[in-house]
Amino acid sequence: MKTKPEEMDANVKTDDGRSLRKKSEFLRACRGEKTSYTPIWLMRQAGRYMKEYRDIRDKVSFLDLCKNPNLCAEVAVTAQEKIGADAAILFSDLLLILEPFGFGLEYTKDHGPVITGRIESKRDVEKLSGGFHKESLQFVFDAVRQTRKSLKPAVPLIGFSGAPFTLAAYILEGGTSRTFLSTKQFMFSNPETWHLLMEKVSSAVIDYLNGQIEAGADAVQLFDSWVGCLGAEDYREYVLPYSRRVIDGIKKDVPLIHFGTGTGMFLKSFGEAGGDVIGIDHHIRLDQALEVIGYTVGIQGNLDPAMLCCPIDTIRKSVKRILEQVGERPGHIFNLGHGVLPTTPVENVIRLVEMVHEMSA
Ligand code: CP3
Repeated sequence: MKTKPEEMDANVKTDDGRSLRKKSEFLRACRGEKTSYTPIWLMRQAGRYMKEYRDIRDKVSFLDLCKNPNLCAEVAVTAQEKIGADAAILFSDLLLILEPFGFGLEYTKDHGPVITGRIESKRDVEKLSGGFHKESLQFVFDAVRQTRKSLKPAVPLIGFSGAPFTLAAYILEGGTSRTFLSTKQFMFSNPETWHLLMEKVSSAVIDYLNGQIEAGADAVQLFDSWVGCLGAEDYREYVLPYSRRVIDGIKKDVPLIHFGTGTGMFLKSFGEAGGDVIGIDHHIRLDQALEVIGYTVGIQGNLDPAMLCCPIDTIRKSVKRILEQVGERPGHIFNLGHGVLPTTPVENVIRLVEMVHEMSA
């Protein structure tokens, strides 16, 4: 039954559109319910591939942008509306949570993010104060509120955080890495200190995500972007308990998407850590992933981001294959296997969204 326009208005007035969003294709898919088409959003849907974003970045630094709730809202909403995605993602960054821990954070043109204030000993970890103060991330919560206000009431907003492993690895590497040697050396050589670090990071992530939910996020995604550098047994021993603790600590009425890259070799454990929806990268087929994780959770993914730099017919073939792998099974959210690449033509992204909607309807 369709809601009459006057009823919709009443809903919007009384609950900020929450009841409308609850019925959105995206949130229905998160709950594993049948949808009339496959909803889609893209990791890094707001970013350098989009002219509107580059224009803003010509005027402000990336960190100043992240700390300006009005601009964050503008970037997130512009991207969602321009590509017609079924959800918006908060505009922010994974690493902002490191500043209230006492680390320095800088985004450099040549080397990406640089984190200063290295951790070398148990004392360094102990000194990481009782020190995470949620208040110092008020600008993120304000960005959630502002984005919520600027979005159409029916469009869900996704909040996010880095998962404990990926954040700990950024701390220990001091930036991006190919080998993750510092992280692995630290983790394998000082397990007790590693566990202490992971405990502190996990508690902060729980507070941070619940703060975003209180501010109005309709769903949250936990990014374990670097976890694929680990072996299966190490994932279980050093990481799983903390991802699980975070997921168990998130308010229950809001769906959580648990995303990782390179998780194919330990997908069962990754799924056991929890999440209403498991986000899969493009290294594994979705039907195989579902077989491993089990059919009781939703699945998100998994077009290769490079595909979006190819001809439309090539993209279409790949989309068709992914939709066929999932078939009639409910609970699929279409996404890339990782973030949109900066050289992606925006036209291809718009076509992808239309294509997924049409082909899955
Ligand atoms: O549209 C969205 O997805 C929302 C915004 C968002 C950004 N970063 C904006 C951003 C999200 C969800 C992230 C998550 C993030 N940040 C991750 C996890 C996802 C992933 O890619 O695995 C990670 C690892 C980071 C850390 C980070 N931030 C790196 C390594 C870099 C530099 C490399 C790069 O891609 O530019 C950033 C910068 C960053 N974060 C940009 C944007 C739009 C580019 C900044 C600029 O130059 O304008």
